[in-house]
Amino acid sequence: MRRKIVAGNWKMNKTLPESLELAENLKKELEGQCLCGVEVVVAPVFTNVYAVAEALKGTGVAVAVQNIHQMKSGAYTGEVSAPIAKSAGATKVILGHSERRQYFGETDALLAEKTDAALAEGLEVIFCIGEVLEERKAGKHFEVVEEQVKNALFHLPAEAWKNIVLAYEPVWAIGTGETATPEQAEEIHAHIRAVVAEKYGKEVDEEVSILYGGSCNPKNAKEIFAKPNVDGGLIGGASLKAADFKAVIDGFKC
Ligand code: PGA
Repeated sequence: MRRKIVAGNWKMNKTLPESLELAENLKKELEGQCLCGVEVVVAPVFTNVYAVAEALKGTGVAVAVQNIHQMKSGAYTGEVSAPIAKSAGATKVILGHSERRQYFGETDALLAEKTDAALAEGLEVIFCIGEVLEERKAGKHFEVVEEQVKNALFHLPAEAWKNIVLAYEPVWAIGTGETATPEQAEEIHAHIRAVVAEKYGKEVDEEVSILYGGSCNPKNAKEIFAKPNVDGGLIGGASLKAADFKAVIDGFKC
């Protein structure tokens, strides 16, 4: 069954004390609240993962890392591997974020390797796809996201997909205040779903959650989450304040 997920991508924000404060505030916001089956995830920076995971123990909020290296260990100065991230308390990893693709040159081929490394450790992968503005203007957005999914994920066996969540993030909507309309999100999500179904069949497709990301906030979350093929959100800016993040989660209120 597709799951409802709201994940906060803290990006390169928050010192250790600030991360702990945000985790504590989120804990307070969620205390005694019905989440209506929504899975909540936060992704702090690497150095704060352990402390945040400890602070959120018992709350049901899962902790993700924002990247991993494709190797398990070795002479890769400055990098963090899947086993290391897992040992710090992460159960998930965000891969293929457009900022990683854009600023760190991550390619589909590399992301395929990183996905394998994550799945080998039992980390769930939140895999990001999305077109840049020029691609949308040229009407290539369907094609672009389709290629990203195929190139990085279609080598996986069907059973691996139970640990894959997709996140459609149009790059022109990330951090810009400009959101895709619910209709734009829906049509791309439906397309991605059809692409996955064509390769793996309905059974796999019906298990895959597809999140929307890109200036999703307390004001627009409800309308976006209401679309039949939108299973939640990957939230940047609005995840940095506990009350805002909670309000986004409430976009799913039953
Ligand atoms: P934003 O970021 O919500 O600040 O646009 C989303 C993301 O990059 O995951």
